[in-house]
Amino acid sequence: MVSLNINGETLVLEDVDASTPLLWVLRDHLGLTGTKYGCGGGYCGACTVHLNGTPIRSCITASSAVEGEAISTIEGLADDNGLHPLQAAWIEHDVPQCGYCQSGQIMSAAALLERNPSPNDADIDAAMQGNLCRCGTYQRIRAAIHTAAGNPGGDA
Ligand code: FES
Ligand code: FES
Repeated sequence: MVSLNINGETLVLEDVDASTPLLWVLRDHLGLTGTKYGCGGGYCGACTVHLNGTPIRSCITASSAVEGEAISTIEGLADDNGLHPLQAAWIEHDVPQCGYCQSGQIMSAAALLERNPSPNDADIDAAMQGNLCRCGTYQRIRAAIHTAAGNPGGDA
């Protein structure tokens, strides 16, 4: 059994073994399939969620290790006011190609903007370096982050 706080809701999951990686609790037990399985080893960032606002790799995080902590997933990013500015910017810049990596990209970007509302290119590259994109959407990701930060021209 584990007790998790996901997107502001406390959930007691009787049938989950404490050693189960958070990724599989989200996907298989809660149906929150926006968080993706890529490498399973902490290398690609597809499974990125927030732990108390900090991006973590849910594929290598035991659910027992995050009991009682605030976990946020891509499904919790929009609120009653609508899309998160990053989600709107992602649409504006038509960022995704296959889309597989994009939830993780957005979650890392959201954590960046929480701690640095006006990142420059170097800040963005540093924050996003752990999120891989096989389709090579990096330039559009960077542009969308600048737009969401209210600086659509970026560093230029
Ligand atoms: S699936 Fe978790 S880092 Fe790749
Ligand atoms: S959009 Fe295809 S892997 Fe990133």
